[in-house]
Amino acid sequence: MTGTDQAAKAVTAAAVESFRDTPDPRLRELLQGLVRHLHSYVRELRPTIQEWEYAVEYLTAVGRKCDPTRQEFILLSDVLGVSMLVETVNEEGGGTESTVLGPFHVVESPKRESGDGIDLMSVGEPCVVALRVTSADGSPLAGASVDVWQCSTDGFYDVQQPDIQPLGNGRGLFRTDDEGRVWFRTVVPSHYPIPTDGPVGVLLDATGRHPYRPAHIHFIVEADGHRPLTTHIFVADGPYLDSDAVFAVKESLVADFAQVDEAERARAYQVTAPFRLAEFDIAVQPETNKDAG
Ligand code: BEZ
Ligand code: FE
Repeated sequence: MTGTDQAAKAVTAAAVESFRDTPDPRLRELLQGLVRHLHSYVRELRPTIQEWEYAVEYLTAVGRKCDPTRQEFILLSDVLGVSMLVETVNEEGGGTESTVLGPFHVVESPKRESGDGIDLMSVGEPCVVALRVTSADGSPLAGASVDVWQCSTDGFYDVQQPDIQPLGNGRGLFRTDDEGRVWFRTVVPSHYPIPTDGPVGVLLDATGRHPYRPAHIHFIVEADGHRPLTTHIFVADGPYLDSDAVFAVKESLVADFAQVDEAERARAYQVTAPFRLAEFDIAVQPETNKDAG
């Protein structure tokens, strides 16, 4: 071992040791692990001082880009695959698979009744989404909250186009009925590029990566006694399902948005034929003692 290697090891040991007396054992574990992994990255790749300064400037720019409707750090975590990795390691199996939250969730979606429309623009292919929320064993869950958000037909969320879309377009907070069901009218969402006008766009550009996400609708489902679930349903016949910029596609979450031509079925859903219909179940897992603790 060279003198430099020895000195490097000593720095790592001292930095890890500096957290020895952290009273919260989990915080201690997370910080010491962070230091160990960051230090081994530096020891392996030996960034130059200029490269490290660039990294610090880059992260500073990421922070500067954040505001109440733009979360560049989430975006960075997404394109590095970390958001999806955190979802994946926390998955317990059994119910519908989870996927990333993304930066466009708003804390309060407008409250809506089953059967309402969430599209306030009337531009795009009419679509009905009909879902049933169940527990992992398939039993229906009445009174579950279903928070929904999607982009417009042009591939933008309401918060990205405050001058064009009314706030609340493509969003709704629903409750399931006695059979665990909820349905709503909307338009088929489009695939879209994640925002590229900030440091994350610079990263994608420099690495020759495309910014697109396949078409999807977001859901957060919460039911008493069950773990909250954050997920999407992806539109089966759209592009980018095999190259999502944020690695969030799971095969089980891809659903058929079938074309329906029958006028009678259209009437039942208060739309005109032809329209697209997506029907699926979302299953949530009962809480375990671990969740409570
Ligand atoms: C979204 O699906 O809204 C999203 C997820 C990750 C990055 C950007 C957007
Ligand atoms: Fe999205």
